[in-house]
Amino acid sequence: MKKIKKKICSAAALTLGAALLLAGCGSEDGGQKEIKKLKIGISVYDQYDTFVSEIVSYLQAYAKEKEKDWGISITLDVENANGSQMIQNDQMDGFIRDDMDIACINLVDRTDASTIVEKAQASNVPVIFFNRELVEEDLERWDQLYYVGADAFESGKMQGEILVEECKKNFSKIDKNGDGILQYVMLEGEAGHNDSMVRSMSVISEITDRGYLVEKLSDEIANWNRDQAANKMKQFMEKFDDEIEVVLANNDDMALGAIDALTAAGLSTKDENWPVVLGIDGTTVGLEAVEDGKMLGTVLNDAKGQARGMLELAYSIVSENSLPEEFELLDGKYIRMPYQIVTVDNLGEIQMKLMK
Ligand code: BGC
Repeated sequence: MKKIKKKICSAAALTLGAALLLAGCGSEDGGQKEIKKLKIGISVYDQYDTFVSEIVSYLQAYAKEKEKDWGISITLDVENANGSQMIQNDQMDGFIRDDMDIACINLVDRTDASTIVEKAQASNVPVIFFNRELVEEDLERWDQLYYVGADAFESGKMQGEILVEECKKNFSKIDKNGDGILQYVMLEGEAGHNDSMVRSMSVISEITDRGYLVEKLSDEIANWNRDQAANKMKQFMEKFDDEIEVVLANNDDMALGAIDALTAAGLSTKDENWPVVLGIDGTTVGLEAVEDGKMLGTVLNDAKGQARGMLELAYSIVSENSLPEEFELLDGKYIRMPYQIVTVDNLGEIQMKLMK
C-alpha cells in the first residue's frame, strides 16, 4: 500500500521527526485508523450479468465473514445501473449523500468515467472500479482511484491453449472436414469492452502461434448474453451448418447460448457434429457445462478472488491498514487476479477452491 503509507509517513514527520519517520516507514504494518464501520456503495452495470452478479454474491458473503474478523459493521449498498451511465452517475451522488466511505463502480461505459471521477474527488470518496476496465488516463486522474479485475490477454491465451492441447490429442476428430484447418465462429462480448477486444485477439494469436491454421467463418457481438448468443449461433448454423468445428465465446454465458442453439437443433455431445465449445469465466453454470462435456473447457475469471480483493482494498484504504500479501497492488492502483484454465481434468479442484 504505497499510497497509504505515504500519507501516514508525512503525518508522522510533523510530530516525530525524521529518525522516527524512517523507522515507521519501514514497518509493513503501517499505521491504522480505528474504524467501527465500513459503508460501501456498489453500482453494477447490469445486475442480470451472470459473472458480475457472482462477484456481488461473493462480496456479500465475504463481508459477513470479515465483519467478525475486523470487529466492525459492513454495509453494502448494491445498486443496478441498468445499462445507463447517467443512472450510474446519479447513483454516485447517492453514495456521497449517504456518507459511503468508498464506492465500487462497475462502469457502464468504460470510456466515460469522468463524471464519477469528478464527483468522487470533489467529495473525497475513493473509488474502486472493477471488472470493466477504464482507460488508464482516467485512473490516473486522482490518487484515490483503483481498479480490481484481471488481465484479459491472459484469458484469451488460455482459451487458445485449451484448444491447442485438445488438438494435440484429437485433431482429426475436431477437424471434421479433414482440411487441416480449424473452421471457427466467434461470439464476442460488447463492442468497446476491453475484455472482449483483447480476448478475441489473443485467443486466435495463441492458436496460430502454436502452429494451427484457422479460418473464421463468422463473428458476432452477443453482448455477453446467453439469449443473444443462442440467436447468433442459430444464424451461424443456418449459414454454415456442420462446417463449424469450433465455437469461441468471450464468456461462459455466450458459450451456453451456443450450446442452447446446438441442443435446440437436436444435437447432443455424442454427435460427430457437436463442435468444440469454449468459454471464459468459470461461472457455476459454465462449470456445469464442462462437467457435462458440453463445453470442452473454460478459463476461471476469479470472481471470488476479485470480490475479496475489492473488500480487502476498501478496508485497507479506509482503515489505513496494509493489504494482505495475497493481493498485490500494482503501481499503487491495480489488483489483477490471475486466470486459470478449467477442463474436466481439474474441475473438482476448481469447484473446491470456489466453495472454500
Ligand atoms: C466477463 C463477462 C461479463 C463482463 C461484464 C467479463 O470480464 O467475462 O462474463 O459479462 O465481464 O463486464
